[in-house]
Amino acid sequence: MVNKKMPHIGTKLPGPKSKKLINKDEKFVSQSYTRAYPAVIDHAKGAYIFDSDGNSYIDFHAGIGVCATGNCHPEVVAVVKKQAEKAIHIASADFYHPLVGKLAEKLGEITPGAKEKRVFFGNSGTEAVECALKLARYNKRKPRMIAFIGGFHGRTMGSLSLTCSKINQRKYFAPMLPEVTHVPYAYCYRCPFNLEYGSCDIACVKFIDEVILQKVAPAEDVAAIFVEAIQGEGGYIVPPVEFHPRLKKVAEKYGIYYVVDEVQSGMGRTGKMFAIEHWGVVPDIITVAKALASGMPIGACIAPKKLMTWVPGAHSTTFGGNPIACAAALKTIELLENGLMKNAEKMGKYIMPRLKKMWEDFDIIGDVRGKGLMIGIEFVKDKKSKKPASDYSNEVEQQCFRNGLMLLTCGPNGVRFIPPLIIDEEIADKALKIFEKVVKNIAGRKKR
Ligand SMILES: Cc1ncc(COP(=O)(O)O)c(C=O)c1O
Repeated sequence: MVNKKMPHIGTKLPGPKSKKLINKDEKFVSQSYTRAYPAVIDHAKGAYIFDSDGNSYIDFHAGIGVCATGNCHPEVVAVVKKQAEKAIHIASADFYHPLVGKLAEKLGEITPGAKEKRVFFGNSGTEAVECALKLARYNKRKPRMIAFIGGFHGRTMGSLSLTCSKINQRKYFAPMLPEVTHVPYAYCYRCPFNLEYGSCDIACVKFIDEVILQKVAPAEDVAAIFVEAIQGEGGYIVPPVEFHPRLKKVAEKYGIYYVVDEVQSGMGRTGKMFAIEHWGVVPDIITVAKALASGMPIGACIAPKKLMTWVPGAHSTTFGGNPIACAAALKTIELLENGLMKNAEKMGKYIMPRLKKMWEDFDIIGDVRGKGLMIGIEFVKDKKSKKPASDYSNEVEQQCFRNGLMLLTCGPNGVRFIPPLIIDEEIADKALKIFEKVVKNIAGRKKR
């Protein structure tokens, strides 16, 4: 049960029961999972997580941004139970189900652009991206793609070819899809062109138009530009207001699809249903997953009706369009529309000034950025040198865990706040207190 005393850590971490379970897991489970800290989750409720030894934590991780409606939201649990009694799997590739059509219609309505859209359902973010990739190639009959340095789109071979975030994700997996060209993202804190925002004339977009599409990847051969509205795994990088509109114009000029990956930034997290709405840009194709169904596995690739016209069998799946996941997604969207998306905006505005104040107070915080409840904090050796400090970001993550706050790093030297969208001021205060204590401790040690 959630109570005022939480979070509460009553054992050494990991506790004895957790330790046993971790030992077993390490014997049998793939070591490729990243698992930054030794948490064995027993159950979770709202914005709290409980481990196998009875320790409780504030959840600022949300299962990598999945549990937007909080852990086990009662209304989500109810629709999942109800649908599980009726049909757990129906093979949407072969049969129809009312919830599949209903969810597709709803996604068409809530995504930017004309309502008339079609949706392909898979089970994950990477599958949504694979679908977009294949759809772009299928329609355009062109082989090339543009993607961004720092971008993350998944780890299956197609999406991995677009991913360019951490080297471990790509190392030893070559050859990947040929003809993917990676270009610098609008990372203004560390401008790849060494320019200043305000006088740069958005050089990163001009570079794509005037150099990449003219000398590297002929525009005639490019099917799509894949871009995250806000870069997630790459470091919670928010591009400037001009970035997406200008880049979309370049894509339109050459007849290239603008594919926006909203797997992490979508579903209300930034205070709008889709982060790209902050830039007023209508993508040609949108990919979503993570928070879409509050934890039931689902991924969706959404495109205008006239664009998704491929023939039966061109792309399909056994599990995609699962009725339980669709029921959970419809309920999730209802909850987001009925208050959680607004709460994300409100709580983002509550948290951000507190982090900005920490930025003023601590030389090891180089940058604080984000929208709604998608917030990144970049750690540096000191503000002047801006030297990336992955040792600090990793230690912040570890120490926060040991003090009862679960969060996650992003980029080489960042930490992200990605809590469930249900959090209130009381929970935010508790989390910020732990975070500040940890940062103060590390910053203080550095001074000595
Ligand atoms: C923007 C983005 N796209 C795609 C993916 C891949 O999603 P999944 O891990 O569900 O395959 C992720 C996962 O973090 C992501 O952040």
